[in-house]
Amino acid sequence: MSRQTRGEIRTITVLGAGTMGRGIAHVAAGGGYQTCLFDISADILEQARGAIYGNLDKGVELGKVDPGVARRARELLDFQQDLSTAVSHADLVIEAVPESLELKIETFEKVIRAAPGHALLASNTSALSITEMGAALDRPDRFAGMHFFNPVHIMRLVELVKGLETGDETLRTLRRVAERMGKEVVQVNESPGFVTSRINALIGNEAFRMLQEGVASAADIDRALKLGLNHPMGPFEMIDLVGLDVRLGVLQHLHQTLGELYRPNPLFLQYVQAGRLGRKVGRGVYTYDENGKRID
Ligand SMILES: NC(=O)c1ccc[n+]([C@@H]2O[C@H](COP(=O)([O-])OP(=O)(O)OC[C@H]3O[C@@H](n4cnc5c(N)ncnc54)[C@H](O)[C@@H]3O)[C@@H](O)[C@H]2O)c1
Repeated sequence: MSRQTRGEIRTITVLGAGTMGRGIAHVAAGGGYQTCLFDISADILEQARGAIYGNLDKGVELGKVDPGVARRARELLDFQQDLSTAVSHADLVIEAVPESLELKIETFEKVIRAAPGHALLASNTSALSITEMGAALDRPDRFAGMHFFNPVHIMRLVELVKGLETGDETLRTLRRVAERMGKEVVQVNESPGFVTSRINALIGNEAFRMLQEGVASAADIDRALKLGLNHPMGPFEMIDLVGLDVRLGVLQHLHQTLGELYRPNPLFLQYVQAGRLGRKVGRGVYTYDENGKRID
């Protein structure tokens, strides 16, 4: 068992080695934490190992990561396919399994049976209720949201989400952890879409509304936001990157929870129904060739 004193985190276990989990494990090890990455799939764990090592190497090559830090991060990383082993020494468990309340609660219940009693728990959910998840577990005061952004090793923000029962000590500790991972923290009281997804959903929906009304072409709407408002990506470029189905799901959730302002635009809905799901399928608002290069 790790020698953990009050509020001190030494060992972090990340659950789910997909897009987000592998990135969270990368920054945890980069922050000097003993880090264990868990997934139910051996193949995905192997892919995650390759991706993390590759991103560390690239960071060193570009002069953005100190070679010593990269070497140390590799030493601190462990990959596990057995959940009990993965969490048995964890001071903090961060969950990044698929976005299903039932799956997340069921996973945390298993964690609680095998992890040390003092372990803090955090979820990287995009939209599910931290309060509801915390209430289903036996330690709502030691449970919070840590909302990372993709790609995790590059994006600087963590939204630290306080559920109704999340304790102040938990929030202080998780803020320190995120900062040691190289992130800046914005604390958010639980609310659908937190800060970022809520604003972003409206921008994307409004962009589709303008496209439907014929205000400007998709490419010009993107150019206007980049050149005139200094957005690093246009709304349609971002929607294509994230996936139209994923963005529509967020919007539908906000519509249900926050009301009419968030009603999905009918053209947006049609694009999803037509299978135009974004870069991942080669066509969304724009069309891409087999190498992912935009061709219209
Ligand atoms: N992708 C994003 O941009 C993004 C951003 C912020 C938050 N999130 C949230 O992060 C979470 C993970 O999203 P993702 O995009 O990384 O998904 P993903 O599909 O890329 O990865 C999920 C991983 O979980 C694994 N998994 C499935 N069941 C599991 C279980 N029972 N135990 C352990 N691992 C299991 C899968 O094998 C897969 O590797 C979701 O809640 C999502 O809403 C995603």
